[in-house]
Amino acid sequence: MFNELKLFFVNWRNGLVGSHRFQKWAGNTPVVRAIARKDGEKIYDLMAGFVYSQTLLAMVELDIFNHLKGRSLTAVALSQKVGVPEKNMIILCQSATAINLLERLNFGQYALSRLGASVLGVPGLIDMIRHHRLFYEDLIDPVSLLKNKVDTHMSKYWPYVLNKTSQKPLKPEVAEIYSDLMRSSQKLVAEETLRLISFSRTKHLLDIGGGTGAFIEEVSKVTSGISFCLFDLPQVVDKARKLTLRKENANNFDVYGGSFVTDKIPKGFDTITLIRVLYDHDDHIVTMLLKKIYDSLPKNGQIIISEPMSGGKFPTRSGDSYFGFYTMAMTTGRPRSAEIHEFFLRKAGFQNIKKHKGTREFITQVITAKKKF
Ligand SMILES: C[S@@+](CC[C@H](N)C(=O)[O-])C[C@H]1O[C@@H](n2cnc3c(N)ncnc32)[C@H](O)[C@@H]1O
Repeated sequence: MFNELKLFFVNWRNGLVGSHRFQKWAGNTPVVRAIARKDGEKIYDLMAGFVYSQTLLAMVELDIFNHLKGRSLTAVALSQKVGVPEKNMIILCQSATAINLLERLNFGQYALSRLGASVLGVPGLIDMIRHHRLFYEDLIDPVSLLKNKVDTHMSKYWPYVLNKTSQKPLKPEVAEIYSDLMRSSQKLVAEETLRLISFSRTKHLLDIGGGTGAFIEEVSKVTSGISFCLFDLPQVVDKARKLTLRKENANNFDVYGGSFVTDKIPKGFDTITLIRVLYDHDDHIVTMLLKKIYDSLPKNGQIIISEPMSGGKFPTRSGDSYFGFYTMAMTTGRPRSAEIHEFFLRKAGFQNIKKHKGTREFITQVITAKKKF
Protein backbone atom coordinates (compact mmCIF):
# COMPACT_ATOMS: atom_id res chain seq x y z
CA MET A 1 0.00 0.00 0.00
CA PHE A 2 2.81 2.37 1.00
CA ASN A 3 4.66 1.60 -2.26
CA GLU A 4 1.53 2.24 -4.34
CA LEU A 5 0.98 5.60 -2.63
CA LYS A 6 4.61 6.50 -3.14
CA LEU A 7 4.44 5.55 -6.83
CA PHE A 8 1.29 7.65 -7.26
CA PHE A 9 3.00 10.64 -5.67
CA VAL A 10 6.20 10.20 -7.70
CA ASN A 11 4.23 10.02 -10.98
CA TRP A 12 2.12 13.06 -10.08
CA ARG A 13 5.18 15.11 -9.04
CA ASN A 14 7.21 14.12 -12.10
CA GLY A 15 4.34 14.98 -14.46
CA LEU A 16 4.17 18.42 -12.87
CA VAL A 17 7.89 19.18 -12.70
CA GLY A 18 8.42 17.80 -16.23
CA SER A 19 6.06 20.36 -17.80
CA HIS A 20 7.49 23.60 -19.17
CA ARG A 21 4.45 25.55 -17.87
CA PHE A 22 5.19 24.45 -14.32
CA GLN A 23 8.87 25.34 -14.70
CA LYS A 24 7.91 28.83 -15.91
CA TRP A 25 5.50 29.29 -13.00
CA ALA A 26 8.08 28.00 -10.50
CA GLY A 27 10.65 30.45 -11.85
CA ASN A 28 8.37 33.36 -10.90
CA THR A 29 7.02 32.13 -7.56
CA PRO A 30 8.85 32.84 -4.27
CA VAL A 31 10.05 29.76 -2.25
CA VAL A 32 9.34 27.37 -5.17
CA ARG A 33 11.70 29.57 -7.20
CA ALA A 34 14.60 28.74 -4.86
CA ILE A 35 13.94 24.98 -5.18
CA ALA A 36 13.62 25.23 -8.97
CA ARG A 37 16.87 27.19 -9.20
CA LYS A 38 18.71 24.63 -7.04
CA ASP A 39 17.42 21.75 -9.17
CA GLY A 40 18.38 23.67 -12.30
CA GLU A 41 21.93 24.13 -11.02
CA LYS A 42 22.19 20.43 -10.12
CA ILE A 43 21.10 19.37 -13.60
CA TYR A 44 23.54 21.84 -15.12
CA ASP A 45 26.36 20.35 -13.01
CA LEU A 46 25.47 16.83 -14.13
CA MET A 47 25.48 17.96 -17.74
CA ALA A 48 28.77 19.84 -17.44
CA GLY A 49 30.49 17.48 -14.97
CA PHE A 50 32.86 16.07 -17.58
CA VAL A 51 34.31 19.56 -18.17
CA TYR A 52 35.07 19.85 -14.46
CA SER A 53 36.79 16.44 -14.48
CA GLN A 54 38.84 17.40 -17.51
CA THR A 55 39.81 20.70 -15.86
CA LEU A 56 41.16 18.62 -12.99
CA LEU A 57 43.03 16.32 -15.40
CA ALA A 58 44.56 19.33 -17.20
CA MET A 59 45.71 20.78 -13.86
CA VAL A 60 47.39 17.46 -13.06
CA GLU A 61 48.97 16.93 -16.49
CA LEU A 62 50.32 20.49 -16.59
CA ASP A 63 51.59 20.08 -13.03
CA ILE A 64 49.79 23.28 -11.97
CA PHE A 65 49.30 21.95 -8.43
CA ASN A 66 53.06 21.80 -7.94
CA HIS A 67 53.71 25.10 -9.73
CA LEU A 68 51.36 26.76 -7.23
CA LYS A 69 52.59 24.89 -4.18
CA GLY A 70 53.36 27.48 -1.50
CA ARG A 71 53.02 30.48 -3.86
CA SER A 72 50.67 32.38 -6.13
CA LEU A 73 51.18 33.16 -9.83
CA THR A 74 49.33 35.04 -12.54
CA ALA A 75 47.82 33.19 -15.48
CA VAL A 76 50.48 34.85 -17.66
CA ALA A 77 53.32 33.47 -15.52
CA LEU A 78 51.68 30.03 -15.48
CA SER A 79 51.18 30.09 -19.23
CA GLN A 80 54.90 30.67 -19.74
CA LYS A 81 55.82 27.90 -17.33
CA VAL A 82 53.67 25.22 -18.92
CA GLY A 83 53.57 26.32 -22.56
CA VAL A 84 49.82 27.00 -22.83
CA PRO A 85 48.73 30.21 -24.64
CA GLU A 86 47.81 33.00 -22.23
CA LYS A 87 44.17 33.21 -23.33
CA ASN A 88 43.65 29.47 -22.69
CA MET A 89 45.49 29.57 -19.38
CA ILE A 90 43.13 32.30 -18.17
CA ILE A 91 40.20 30.00 -19.06
CA LEU A 92 41.81 27.09 -17.19
CA CYS A 93 42.52 29.21 -14.10
CA GLN A 94 39.01 30.67 -14.06
CA SER A 95 37.49 27.20 -14.55
CA ALA A 96 39.63 25.74 -11.75
CA THR A 97 38.63 28.67 -9.51
CA ALA A 98 34.95 28.09 -10.29
CA ILE A 99 35.20 24.45 -9.18
CA ASN A 100 37.13 25.44 -6.04
CA LEU A 101 40.55 24.06 -6.96
CA LEU A 102 42.10 27.54 -7.10
CA GLU A 103 41.55 30.86 -5.34
CA ARG A 104 41.77 34.20 -7.09
CA LEU A 105 43.81 36.73 -5.19
CA ASN A 106 44.42 40.42 -5.94
CA PHE A 107 46.34 41.54 -9.02
CA GLY A 108 45.26 38.53 -11.09
CA GLN A 109 47.22 36.06 -8.96
CA TYR A 110 45.98 32.50 -8.47
CA ALA A 111 46.78 30.25 -5.50
CA LEU A 112 45.69 26.73 -4.56
CA SER A 113 42.46 26.64 -2.61
CA ARG A 114 42.12 24.34 0.43
CA LEU A 115 40.64 21.69 -1.86
CA GLY A 116 43.37 22.21 -4.46
CA ALA A 117 46.12 21.92 -1.84
CA SER A 118 44.61 18.68 -0.59
CA VAL A 119 44.95 17.10 -4.06
CA LEU A 120 48.68 17.00 -3.40
CA GLY A 121 48.19 15.49 0.04
CA VAL A 122 45.94 12.55 -0.86
CA PRO A 123 48.17 9.52 -1.56
CA GLY A 124 47.61 8.05 -5.01
CA LEU A 125 45.08 10.65 -6.14
CA ILE A 126 47.21 12.17 -8.89
CA ASP A 127 48.01 8.71 -10.32
CA MET A 128 44.33 7.83 -10.23
CA ILE A 129 43.34 11.06 -12.03
CA ARG A 130 45.92 10.34 -14.77
CA HIS A 131 44.70 6.77 -15.07
CA HIS A 132 41.18 8.10 -15.74
CA ARG A 133 42.22 9.05 -19.27
CA LEU A 134 41.62 5.41 -20.19
CA PHE A 135 38.35 5.10 -18.30
CA TYR A 136 37.16 8.34 -19.90
CA GLU A 137 37.79 6.94 -23.38
CA ASP A 138 35.73 3.85 -22.53
CA LEU A 139 32.89 6.14 -21.40
CA ILE A 140 32.79 8.26 -24.54
CA ASP A 141 29.91 6.22 -25.92
CA PRO A 142 28.13 5.06 -22.74
CA VAL A 143 25.33 3.34 -24.64
CA SER A 144 27.79 1.12 -26.51
CA LEU A 145 29.51 0.42 -23.20
CA LEU A 146 26.18 -0.54 -21.63
CA LYS A 147 25.48 -2.85 -24.58
CA ASN A 148 28.90 -4.50 -24.13
CA LYS A 149 29.96 -3.29 -27.55
CA VAL A 150 33.18 -1.53 -26.55
CA ASP A 151 36.57 -3.22 -26.64
CA THR A 152 37.55 -1.40 -23.47
CA HIS A 153 40.91 0.01 -22.39
CA MET A 154 40.12 -0.90 -18.81
CA SER A 155 39.92 -4.62 -19.55
CA LYS A 156 43.44 -4.41 -20.97
CA TYR A 157 44.70 -2.34 -18.06
CA TRP A 158 43.49 -5.08 -15.68
CA PRO A 159 44.40 -8.07 -17.88
CA TYR A 160 43.58 -10.76 -15.33
CA VAL A 161 39.91 -10.04 -15.94
CA LEU A 162 40.27 -11.31 -19.53
CA ASN A 163 42.44 -14.16 -18.43
CA LYS A 164 39.86 -15.87 -16.28
CA THR A 165 41.28 -19.35 -16.46
CA SER A 166 44.88 -18.13 -16.15
CA GLN A 167 45.78 -19.91 -19.36
CA LYS A 168 47.48 -16.92 -20.97
CA PRO A 169 50.43 -15.79 -18.86
CA LEU A 170 50.15 -12.27 -17.57
CA LYS A 171 53.01 -10.06 -18.76
CA PRO A 172 55.04 -8.82 -15.75
CA GLU A 173 55.38 -5.32 -17.25
CA VAL A 174 51.56 -5.08 -17.56
CA ALA A 175 51.07 -6.38 -14.02
CA GLU A 176 53.58 -3.79 -12.84
CA ILE A 177 51.52 -0.88 -14.22
CA TYR A 178 48.34 -1.79 -12.32
CA SER A 179 50.26 -2.92 -9.25
CA ASP A 180 51.98 0.48 -9.01
CA LEU A 181 48.63 2.26 -9.23
CA MET A 182 47.18 0.01 -6.51
CA ARG A 183 50.23 0.51 -4.32
CA SER A 184 50.02 4.30 -4.55
CA SER A 185 46.33 4.33 -3.61
CA GLN A 186 46.58 1.65 -0.90
CA LYS A 187 47.54 3.93 1.98
CA LEU A 188 44.08 5.45 2.40
CA VAL A 189 42.36 2.07 2.10
CA ALA A 190 44.68 0.57 4.69
CA GLU A 191 44.26 3.56 7.03
CA GLU A 192 40.47 3.27 6.92
CA THR A 193 40.55 -0.53 7.33
CA LEU A 194 42.94 -0.31 10.28
CA ARG A 195 40.78 2.37 11.88
CA LEU A 196 37.83 -0.06 11.85
CA ILE A 197 39.52 -3.39 12.53
CA SER A 198 41.91 -4.54 15.19
CA PHE A 199 44.45 -7.21 14.33
CA SER A 200 45.30 -7.77 17.99
CA ARG A 201 44.19 -11.43 17.93
CA THR A 202 45.78 -12.21 14.57
CA LYS A 203 48.83 -14.44 14.55
CA HIS A 204 49.04 -15.52 10.90
CA LEU A 205 47.63 -13.27 8.19
CA LEU A 206 47.18 -14.16 4.53
CA ASP A 207 46.45 -11.23 2.19
CA ILE A 208 44.84 -12.66 -0.95
CA GLY A 209 45.15 -10.54 -4.10
CA GLY A 210 47.47 -8.39 -2.01
CA GLY A 211 49.33 -6.92 -4.99
CA THR A 212 52.90 -6.01 -4.09
CA GLY A 213 52.20 -6.07 -0.36
CA ALA A 214 51.33 -2.43 0.39
CA PHE A 215 48.50 -3.46 2.75
CA ILE A 216 50.75 -5.86 4.64
CA GLU A 217 53.33 -3.08 5.01
CA GLU A 218 50.71 -0.80 6.56
CA VAL A 219 49.42 -3.51 8.95
CA SER A 220 52.97 -4.37 9.97
CA LYS A 221 53.57 -0.74 11.00
CA VAL A 222 50.93 -0.91 13.73
CA THR A 223 51.13 -4.53 14.88
CA SER A 224 53.75 -6.93 16.12
CA GLY A 225 54.11 -10.67 16.34
CA ILE A 226 52.11 -11.39 13.19
CA SER A 227 53.49 -13.58 10.42
CA PHE A 228 52.35 -12.30 7.04
CA CYS A 229 51.88 -14.07 3.74
CA LEU A 230 51.04 -12.42 0.46
CA PHE A 231 49.09 -14.34 -2.18
CA ASP A 232 48.85 -12.95 -5.71
CA LEU A 233 49.64 -13.91 -9.27
CA PRO A 234 53.30 -14.97 -9.69
CA GLN A 235 54.08 -11.98 -11.96
CA VAL A 236 52.85 -9.65 -9.21
CA VAL A 237 54.42 -11.18 -6.09
CA ASP A 238 57.86 -11.25 -7.69
CA LYS A 239 58.06 -7.50 -7.09
CA ALA A 240 56.81 -7.95 -3.55
CA ARG A 241 59.89 -9.77 -2.36
CA LYS A 242 61.46 -6.37 -1.69
CA LEU A 243 58.90 -5.20 0.88
CA THR A 244 59.92 -2.76 3.57
CA LEU A 245 58.50 -4.22 6.73
CA ARG A 246 59.09 -2.96 10.23
CA LYS A 247 62.34 -4.39 11.55
CA GLU A 248 60.59 -6.63 14.09
CA ASN A 249 58.44 -8.10 11.33
CA ALA A 250 61.09 -8.40 8.63
CA ASN A 251 61.52 -12.16 9.01
CA ASN A 252 57.81 -12.85 9.30
CA PHE A 253 56.95 -12.44 5.67
CA ASP A 254 56.35 -14.98 2.95
CA VAL A 255 54.94 -14.83 -0.55
CA TYR A 256 52.82 -17.29 -2.44
CA GLY A 257 52.58 -16.88 -6.19
CA GLY A 258 49.47 -18.51 -7.62
CA SER A 259 45.94 -18.00 -8.83
CA PHE A 260 43.00 -18.25 -6.48
CA VAL A 261 40.99 -19.49 -9.46
CA THR A 262 43.11 -22.53 -10.22
CA ASP A 263 45.22 -23.04 -7.08
CA LYS A 264 44.46 -24.01 -3.51
CA ILE A 265 44.42 -21.38 -0.78
CA PRO A 266 47.26 -22.19 1.63
CA LYS A 267 46.27 -23.32 5.13
CA GLY A 268 47.62 -22.24 8.52
CA PHE A 269 46.26 -18.67 8.64
CA ASP A 270 43.78 -17.43 11.23
CA THR A 271 42.99 -14.24 9.33
CA ILE A 272 42.50 -13.84 5.58
CA THR A 273 42.13 -10.40 4.02
CA LEU A 274 40.60 -9.54 0.66
CA ILE A 275 41.39 -5.89 0.03
CA ARG A 276 39.82 -4.49 -3.16
CA VAL A 277 39.61 -7.98 -4.66
CA LEU A 278 36.03 -9.25 -4.88
CA TYR A 279 34.55 -6.32 -6.83
CA ASP A 280 36.87 -7.19 -9.74
CA HIS A 281 35.24 -10.59 -10.14
CA ASP A 282 31.98 -12.09 -11.29
CA ASP A 283 29.67 -13.87 -8.87
CA HIS A 284 30.78 -17.42 -9.74
CA ILE A 285 34.43 -16.55 -8.91
CA VAL A 286 33.36 -14.85 -5.67
CA THR A 287 31.33 -17.93 -4.68
CA MET A 288 34.24 -20.23 -5.43
CA LEU A 289 36.87 -18.04 -3.74
CA LEU A 290 34.88 -17.57 -0.52
CA LYS A 291 34.28 -21.32 -0.30
CA LYS A 292 38.00 -22.02 -0.79
CA ILE A 293 38.83 -19.46 1.90
CA TYR A 294 36.25 -20.94 4.27
CA ASP A 295 37.73 -24.42 3.78
CA SER A 296 41.27 -23.18 4.36
CA LEU A 297 40.52 -21.33 7.64
CA PRO A 298 40.69 -23.00 11.07
CA LYS A 299 37.72 -22.87 13.46
CA ASN A 300 37.24 -19.25 14.61
CA GLY A 301 39.28 -18.08 11.63
CA GLN A 302 38.32 -14.68 10.32
CA ILE A 303 37.85 -13.17 6.86
CA ILE A 304 38.13 -9.41 6.31
CA ILE A 305 36.71 -7.86 3.16
CA SER A 306 37.59 -4.23 2.51
CA GLU A 307 36.55 -2.58 -0.73
CA PRO A 308 34.23 0.07 -2.20
CA MET A 309 30.64 -1.15 -2.00
CA SER A 310 27.30 -0.38 -3.57
CA GLY A 311 24.82 1.46 -1.35
CA GLY A 312 22.16 -1.14 -2.29
CA LYS A 313 18.76 0.47 -1.61
CA PHE A 314 20.53 3.80 -1.16
CA PRO A 315 22.88 4.07 -4.15
CA THR A 316 25.98 6.20 -3.68
CA ARG A 317 28.01 8.26 -6.15
CA SER A 318 31.25 6.41 -5.53
CA GLY A 319 29.94 2.88 -4.91
CA ASP A 320 27.23 2.82 -7.56
CA SER A 321 27.98 5.47 -10.20
CA TYR A 322 31.76 5.39 -10.24
CA PHE A 323 32.54 1.76 -9.41
CA GLY A 324 29.47 0.50 -11.26
CA PHE A 325 30.74 1.98 -14.52
CA TYR A 326 34.36 1.24 -13.64
CA THR A 327 33.72 -2.49 -13.30
CA MET A 328 31.50 -2.41 -16.39
CA ALA A 329 34.47 -1.00 -18.32
CA MET A 330 36.71 -3.68 -16.81
CA THR A 331 34.14 -6.18 -18.16
CA THR A 332 33.99 -8.22 -14.95
CA GLY A 333 32.90 -7.80 -11.39
CA ARG A 334 30.50 -5.31 -9.84
CA PRO A 335 30.28 -3.27 -6.66
CA ARG A 336 28.28 -5.31 -4.14
CA SER A 337 26.23 -3.97 -1.28
CA ALA A 338 26.83 -5.13 2.30
CA GLU A 339 23.68 -7.28 1.99
CA ILE A 340 24.99 -9.01 -1.13
CA HIS A 341 28.36 -9.65 0.51
CA GLU A 342 26.50 -11.14 3.45
CA PHE A 343 24.58 -13.43 1.09
CA PHE A 344 27.80 -14.76 -0.48
CA LEU A 345 29.52 -15.12 2.90
CA ARG A 346 26.61 -17.11 4.32
CA LYS A 347 26.51 -19.30 1.23
CA ALA A 348 30.18 -20.16 1.84
CA GLY A 349 29.37 -21.08 5.49
CA PHE A 350 30.55 -17.95 7.32
CA GLN A 351 28.84 -16.62 10.46
CA ASN A 352 29.18 -13.56 12.74
CA ILE A 353 29.01 -11.34 9.68
CA LYS A 354 29.57 -7.71 10.66
CA LYS A 355 29.51 -4.53 8.61
CA HIS A 356 31.80 -1.97 10.26
CA LYS A 357 30.51 1.57 10.04
CA GLY A 358 33.19 3.79 8.58
CA THR A 359 33.30 7.50 7.88
CA ARG A 360 34.97 7.42 4.48
CA GLU A 361 32.83 4.90 2.64
CA PHE A 362 33.82 6.38 -0.73
CA ILE A 363 37.30 4.97 -0.05
CA THR A 364 36.39 1.57 1.32
CA GLN A 365 33.89 -0.34 3.44
CA VAL A 366 34.72 -3.23 5.70
CA ILE A 367 32.92 -6.50 6.46
CA THR A 368 34.23 -9.27 8.70
CA ALA A 369 32.97 -12.82 9.21
CA LYS A 370 34.02 -15.93 11.08
CA LYS A 371 34.19 -19.65 10.53
CA LYS A 372 32.44 -21.08 13.56
CA PHE A 373 32.71 -24.82 12.96
C1 LIG B 1 42.43 -4.31 -7.55
S1 LIG B 1 43.92 -5.14 -7.18
C2 LIG B 1 44.05 -4.90 -5.43
C3 LIG B 1 45.44 -5.09 -4.90
C4 LIG B 1 45.59 -4.85 -3.40
N1 LIG B 1 44.82 -5.77 -2.62
C5 LIG B 1 45.22 -3.43 -3.06
O1 LIG B 1 44.15 -3.17 -2.51
O2 LIG B 1 46.04 -2.55 -3.37
C6 LIG B 1 43.44 -6.84 -7.29
C7 LIG B 1 44.59 -7.80 -7.10
O3 LIG B 1 44.07 -9.14 -7.27
C8 LIG B 1 45.05 -9.89 -7.96
N2 LIG B 1 44.41 -11.03 -8.65
C9 LIG B 1 43.51 -10.98 -9.65
N3 LIG B 1 43.16 -12.22 -10.03
C10 LIG B 1 43.86 -13.06 -9.25
C11 LIG B 1 43.95 -14.48 -9.16
N4 LIG B 1 43.22 -15.26 -9.97
N5 LIG B 1 44.76 -15.01 -8.22
C12 LIG B 1 45.51 -14.22 -7.40
N6 LIG B 1 45.46 -12.88 -7.43
C13 LIG B 1 44.66 -12.30 -8.35
C14 LIG B 1 45.65 -8.90 -8.95
O4 LIG B 1 46.90 -9.31 -9.44
C15 LIG B 1 45.72 -7.64 -8.11
O5 LIG B 1 46.94 -7.53 -7.44
